[in-house]
Amino acid sequence: MNILGIESSCDETSAAVLCDGQVCSNVISSQRCHAAFGGVVPELASREHERLIVSITDDAVTEANITKNELDVIAATAGPGLIGAVMVGLCFAQGMAYALGLPFIPVNHIEAHIFSPFINEGAGHHSPDNSFISLTVSGGHTLLSVVAQDLSYEVIGRTLDDAAGEAFDKTGKMLGLPYPAGPVIDKLAEQGDPAFHKFPRALTSQSQTSKSYLNNFDFSFSGLKTSVLTWLQKQTPEFRELHLPDIAASIQWAIVSVLVEKTISAAQSRGIKSVAIAGGVSANSGLRKAMQDACNKNGITLYLPGKIYSTDNAAMIATLAAVKLSRGMKAERCYNVAPYASFAAGAHRKA
Ligand code: KG4
Ligand code: ZN
Repeated sequence: MNILGIESSCDETSAAVLCDGQVCSNVISSQRCHAAFGGVVPELASREHERLIVSITDDAVTEANITKNELDVIAATAGPGLIGAVMVGLCFAQGMAYALGLPFIPVNHIEAHIFSPFINEGAGHHSPDNSFISLTVSGGHTLLSVVAQDLSYEVIGRTLDDAAGEAFDKTGKMLGLPYPAGPVIDKLAEQGDPAFHKFPRALTSQSQTSKSYLNNFDFSFSGLKTSVLTWLQKQTPEFRELHLPDIAASIQWAIVSVLVEKTISAAQSRGIKSVAIAGGVSANSGLRKAMQDACNKNGITLYLPGKIYSTDNAAMIATLAAVKLSRGMKAERCYNVAPYASFAAGAHRKA
């Protein structure tokens, strides 16, 4: 079965073809037009998607060595995301499905991230045998959920303010780094000392004197942002420049240590032995290593997406469509975008 997936919820235009559960192509164009604004400008994003969607889709079909007529199903992100951006991909995909007489599957973007660690595992084997804990960390979301075999989700924690990716991007902006700053901080942190300065870790064992943090799986990163801002204001430009890798490593560790502590304690409190992490921040090498170490220590199996499947991509959209079909879901038509669909803790971030 050949499934075409389309993703356009934020600032990546992507199309992918999944052939019998394996990714045959995954073409991604990351929009550069937002760099000067320090965040995604919704109108610019929609226009870029509009400009690229046809050629990206053509490329994905060609790279998969098939023709459009050999497609069996078309799937696209229906939300959450920037409404104009989602609409470009969704309307295009539905129009194409209609023209080719193919079934269409609308996909929830966050749900697709959740299953991204299982891309290429083959149709019907897209998750561990039992429930797993999902940590979904992107520019717009920070969610801890229990995912059951029947694809039902119980969200047990979410951010009360900024998402983890936002914490990287906004503190990075304070350091003068380009948007998105997450990957840049990741790179700088490799050369830095994470113990250089201790930034606060909200709602964790290190921030609470009572036990009120136990079984609280929510996150808060806005205090970290303020703390970085006020601390940086007290430093000279020379000091900031000299210690940039150390500051990056300290910020990264403040974010990563919270994500790891909460994820492991969620798994322990539910007696669940599988953890899967997903979303743009799951590409972070510090998070991948710290989570792997903590899982090893606690007898937990960790599922990580390939780095290319951490950030937004259409292979995860096609894969979730395959998962849904393998579990008996019927194709449908979806005429509405759902910019704040289910998992959304708020709107996608904007500039
Ligand atoms: O999932 P994604 O591509 O888009 C959203 O749905 O938001 O995530 C983008 C976010 C950005 O905040 C970006 O800075 C962050 O993921 N990110 C990273 C890394 N790569 C991407 N954060 C930390 N380390 C990375 N290596
Ligand atoms: Zn995403």
